Amino acid sequence: MATQDIARTINPCLRLEGEIAPPGDKSISHRAAILNSIALGEAEITNFAPGRDCWSTVSCLKALGVEIRRKGHGNSHTLIFSQSGTDGLREPRDVLNAGNSGTTMRLLGGLLSSQPFLSVITGDASLRSRPMKRLIEPLRLMGAEIYGRGKDSFAPLVIRGKELRGMDFSLPIPSAQIKSAILLAGLFAQGSTVLRQPIPSRDHTERLLKQMGAELGSDGNVIFLSPLSSPLGSISFRVPGDISSGAYFLVAGAIHPDAKLIIKDCGINPTRTGIIDILLAMGARLRIQNERVEAGEPLADIMVESSELKGVQIGGDIIPRLIDEIPALAVAGCIAKGKTVIRDAGELRVKESDRIATVCRELSRMGAEIEPLPDGMVIHGGKHLAGAEVDSHRDHRLAMSLAIAGLVASERTTIGHAHAAQVSYPFFWQDLQNLTR
Ligand code: S3P
Repeated sequence: MATQDIARTINPCLRLEGEIAPPGDKSISHRAAILNSIALGEAEITNFAPGRDCWSTVSCLKALGVEIRRKGHGNSHTLIFSQSGTDGLREPRDVLNAGNSGTTMRLLGGLLSSQPFLSVITGDASLRSRPMKRLIEPLRLMGAEIYGRGKDSFAPLVIRGKELRGMDFSLPIPSAQIKSAILLAGLFAQGSTVLRQPIPSRDHTERLLKQMGAELGSDGNVIFLSPLSSPLGSISFRVPGDISSGAYFLVAGAIHPDAKLIIKDCGINPTRTGIIDILLAMGARLRIQNERVEAGEPLADIMVESSELKGVQIGGDIIPRLIDEIPALAVAGCIAKGKTVIRDAGELRVKESDRIATVCRELSRMGAEIEPLPDGMVIHGGKHLAGAEVDSHRDHRLAMSLAIAGLVASERTTIGHAHAAQVSYPFFWQDLQNLTR
């Protein structure tokens, strides 16, 4: 059996109790790796995200000539970046492989468009079917030579790096990956870049760039970036826990009838905390404790207990703040009393799987009353979930969301392709087991 075909069985549990520190934030780790690779001086990043996606970024950066060393073993990694500044990248000798990671491909797509060499970047079957036109079109407006496959411009992408021009651009969708790609290209362009966001998306790139000395400002939803006049300064820090990984336990704690969990050292950047707002609106007993800021990113411990949830409407400007947590929130919607409606989330159709279709199909197998909409789903909650044979569709977020549904199901649940969890949370199954009684 190939590793990616491993199934996992989840038994319903009597009690859910304890503390959990989610792995380092995936979005922040990608950015810490990429930005330190073009910065001056050595940087030490601790609690670097252990999942496969960030290792795809690291392996691409190594292929671009960046010296990256790894310190320590186990669940928490430290990476050391020794780079000599903005002209440190070299033409790769082979095709770069972004694996399953959209963030790797899109952020590097922006950066490589500005570098004086040729690169080709590909990914796995899922990534090769995800939209790249949204990346290629704005980069071409900056003068980039970047090409995709077929009329929809899927990956592999071929990039002939060249000198770019800054631009004033309105992002058609609130995508942090596209925003970050344009900012990375803008660092090396002639003239300033102005980016107008329809709705703010995660702002980790902006926070890091400012701390590393870039001239970046913002006014409401508009971001202003000047090209680099001197190299970025490297930055060493500890990556906060990933709220997108903590999300499974936030939901599990709220839906389980006998639960008390503490999610430790978890990032609470306001562009990522839509899940907390929605769980509170559903009536979750959830408390944020021990708030602090490290390297410009807020973090805290989050306590969650068994709650009587009620259905809610989820849509509009909150969507980018919780887009990756919708599979977990759908599980909360199945248990909550009443109807939960999720709208304005058409982006789910172009994630690692078509998450509107896959979430509805798999939770239906467990007895949920859940129907897809073109841009979301309707869930008639308050039903008991039954154990079933379900499948992750090789989508990490679906694998872990189905696991927490399994905790409150009446019999055992078997999740096919559960190995997908490795993409963001390799220790998920162990962490889950440690909390179940
Ligand atoms: C991410 C941005 C989001 C998110 C993805 C990570 C990032 O994607 O869904 O998991 O790190 O910038 P989009 O930019 O496509 O919205």
